[in-house]
Amino acid sequence: MVRVLCWLMVFGLFMPVLAATVAPDPHSFANFQQVRTRHLVLDLAVDFTRQQLTGYAEHQLERLDPTINRLVLDSRNLKITTVTFTNDGVHWQKAAYLLGIEDALKGQPLTIQLQVLTKAVRVYYQTTPQANGLQWLTAAQSSEKKQPFLFSQSQPIHARSWIPLQDTPANRITYQAHIKTPPELLAVMSADNSANTRRNGDYQFDMPQPVPSYLIALAVGDLHFKAMSADTGVYAEKLWLDRATAEFSDTQKMMDAANQLFGKYPWKRYDLLVLPSSFPFGGMENPRLSFVTPTIITGDKSLISLVAHELAHSWSGNLVTNASWNDVWLNEGFTNYVENRIMQQVYGQPRADMELLLNVRALRNLLTHQAPADSRLQADYSGRDPEEAFQQIPYVKGQLLLLTLAQHFGQAKFDQFLREYFAHFAFQSIHTESFIQYFQQQLNSKQSFSEQALQRWLNAPGLPDELALPASDAFARVSAAQQQWLAGKAGLRLLPTAEWSVHEWLHFIDLLPRELTEQQLNELDLVFSLSQSSNAEVFTAWAQLVIPLNYQPIIQPLRQFLLSVGRQKFIIPLYSELKANPQWRSWARQVYREARPGYHPLAQQQLDKLAL
Ligand code: BES
Ligand code: ZN
Repeated sequence: MVRVLCWLMVFGLFMPVLAATVAPDPHSFANFQQVRTRHLVLDLAVDFTRQQLTGYAEHQLERLDPTINRLVLDSRNLKITTVTFTNDGVHWQKAAYLLGIEDALKGQPLTIQLQVLTKAVRVYYQTTPQANGLQWLTAAQSSEKKQPFLFSQSQPIHARSWIPLQDTPANRITYQAHIKTPPELLAVMSADNSANTRRNGDYQFDMPQPVPSYLIALAVGDLHFKAMSADTGVYAEKLWLDRATAEFSDTQKMMDAANQLFGKYPWKRYDLLVLPSSFPFGGMENPRLSFVTPTIITGDKSLISLVAHELAHSWSGNLVTNASWNDVWLNEGFTNYVENRIMQQVYGQPRADMELLLNVRALRNLLTHQAPADSRLQADYSGRDPEEAFQQIPYVKGQLLLLTLAQHFGQAKFDQFLREYFAHFAFQSIHTESFIQYFQQQLNSKQSFSEQALQRWLNAPGLPDELALPASDAFARVSAAQQQWLAGKAGLRLLPTAEWSVHEWLHFIDLLPRELTEQQLNELDLVFSLSQSSNAEVFTAWAQLVIPLNYQPIIQPLRQFLLSVGRQKFIIPLYSELKANPQWRSWARQVYREARPGYHPLAQQQLDKLAL
């Protein structure tokens, strides 16, 4: 029997059978089930004048199906100059290759001919100005306004716009990189950055732990480092460095809490990189070095749950990874859950509960207009932009499923289960089915959580009725105070706002009726200076409320905000509100025309779609 099996393996008949059990990735051309990159060597020069990366990507291969003679990589808007291959790791020869027809979503497949013994291929290439995974900022667009800045954003399928590779979260690779920059700038990557790196324009990186392609990240700028604790620190332009380390000074505590709950932090260091304000996201969980927006640096740690979120991805997402973007709730729902557990431990239950309730409100708002099929946890984004998958459904509905399971099995037991889940699937990419199977075996072997209930969570639209959400006393007090004011029983100055946190303010604004009079708006603004709020969350919530009401005093600060902040979470809803107001629409169009060059290509793409 054993001999027959070996014989089958030698002739390559066995592997395809194994490989066929894994679903392919609808958002990638890569034939990673037949031949896959296991190690990537990047050698790139960063040219700020041409806004171009030039160099090569070397793919060290594992042949899963020895009968296959071609490697298919993903690429988008890349200029390929030469492809070479080696059979012995020493001699390189030119390889035949074909850049296929462009697909609007996936880009172009790059198919490279392999010989039986080919071990590695090198693709020599240049990026183009259309690389939507890169933002090139001129000196004037950086925070310090003295040096240019470059950063990448690979998730979900933009790595292929700056590296030709198998751009699927189903495959994991180790990588090393040699990056050349102007000598006065510092390069950092989602790898082993060192505080003692000499600033000379010639940098080496190594990522010895296998990661999916969307976690490969690079930033170059006039960056400086400041340590916060032995294992945590901040990279930023000088302007932000002190403020950022003060804002993020609890990062080590968060890490200690997560270590306790979910197992030892697996990535050695944890640093944060503060990006210029055009960064289109709040944060991005690039391993060892989360990228974050400066809009969370508020001086009062009020938006710090974002750091807990990106840190949480060190387990949910980076250690155990969704194998396709249809499984994104395995990354984001788990991370919202882990984030909230960290917030409970470090800042206490009341704050964590307020944050959860604000999440749930955002989810409920979305559900009022979401297509039912897309409100399933197991949604299908084949043939669509996977960017669309990242909304409150996987984040908050996913979080609520885990919360429900924790309530059902007990907090301690559920935490232990998650700890074991992270250890069991460490450094693997999995589909939802693998989680379900593991859950059924390890935690639910007695079927006390019914199959039916589980299927409803995964495949039914909307939210189950029987949710047990925490009650927030703080929110209840805010609601009561607001009622008093609306009923004319108390003036605004009498409301007990002195101790309110940003969460209470957000609750207060969310709760306000949508049809306030001009006099009421003026009064709110006079007493609370909401139009002048320097907290981007508060400002955006307030602006969204007052734009439809033609509230003039918002105009100047709103213009200022839209010209200086590129975070999509804020600017997309703001422009949408502006578009919906016929009186303000053409004004918004002008602001957008002015602001657009400063926005990230991904934000530009989304806002162009809005058709202001
Ligand atoms: N992984 C995401 C960032 C992301 C989202 C990349 C969509 C590509 C597409 C990150 O972990 C995240 O979720 N960031 C949130 C903040 C979080 C606190 C919910 C964000 O950017 O707002
Ligand atoms: Zn996330």
